[in-house]
Amino acid sequence: MADLSVQIHGLTFRNPVIPAAGPNVRDGIRVVEAVHGGCGAALSKTISVDAAPVPMPHMAEVRGGFINTELWSEMPPERWLATEFAICRAAADEAGIPLICSLGYTGQEIAQLAPKMNRWADALELSTHYLGEDATPMIEAIDAAKQSFHGPVFVKMSPLGREMRAAAQAAKDAGADGIVATNSFGPTFGLDVETGFPLLGGDNGYGWLSGAAIKPLSVRCVYDIAATVDLPIIGVGGISRGEDAIEFIMAGASAVEVCTAAIMRGNHIYGEIARQMGDWLDAHGYASITEIRGLAHKHNVPH
Ligand SMILES: Cc1cc2nc3c(=O)[nH]c(=O)nc-3n(C[C@H](O)[C@H](O)[C@H](O)COP(=O)(O)O)c2cc1C
Repeated sequence: MADLSVQIHGLTFRNPVIPAAGPNVRDGIRVVEAVHGGCGAALSKTISVDAAPVPMPHMAEVRGGFINTELWSEMPPERWLATEFAICRAAADEAGIPLICSLGYTGQEIAQLAPKMNRWADALELSTHYLGEDATPMIEAIDAAKQSFHGPVFVKMSPLGREMRAAAQAAKDAGADGIVATNSFGPTFGLDVETGFPLLGGDNGYGWLSGAAIKPLSVRCVYDIAATVDLPIIGVGGISRGEDAIEFIMAGASAVEVCTAAIMRGNHIYGEIARQMGDWLDAHGYASITEIRGLAHKHNVPH
């Protein structure tokens, strides 16, 4: 079997498939499920300084994809710090894999949260979903995390109005240790034609698109980022099987995250996708996942 392990800044992922922040990792028990489901590293849902309100309904399947208006964790940070992170940490330690914790959003908020994470997290993932198009708030968030957190800090790119190459360069210049691309795309709007009501509650009925529909968009973002900065990239968007993940790795990612497919099919999916990646590498004569990383960039010649 091909070697699926991945090294990122001294952290060893047992395979490249990890959860993306979402309801699939909304509390300690779900993170335990993900670890038992074979994820290469564990990851916990984005927390911020307050509990998030929960618009209802906040998720809907649409043809070819999925829309949601879920915000960050509906549990306050105090609850995560008192109970949930300890559950996540114990599961990650038992499996011998790193724990990545997602935080949001502004520099001020990150400055409050990041120092408390040294006890629990091996790495941080900063969500930039509500920071707008200007790079300054993202840079402030990175600064705040780097000042008080001792491990690697990854920045997750939201595609709203962001030119990925410029954003990745700004993140690198600000000291980010890696880029996660991408978050969901939008805003979107979907209707129930029987009632004329929006499918989602919350802000105008707007939502964010994830799942299969966004995969080519996210792969393009990863491809552009890999061509721009020499940082580890974690690809995310529409992955539900081994070949999808292989595509992201060939575009330049070191690892991948999965959210929608885990919501739809369960937290055993990470191990399943990793096994499919291993089978694919074996069938194509590769000894390790690193042999195909960034392959697309070598093939990018005029034709
Ligand atoms: C219901 C739902 C909740 C999400 N919550 C978060 C979140 O709290 N933080 C975050 O950074 N991304 C969040 N995301 C985005 C996912 O982590 C992921 O980037 C996106 O859905 C694309 O991946 P996928 O197609 O595998 O779902 C959420 C996505 C969904 C569908």
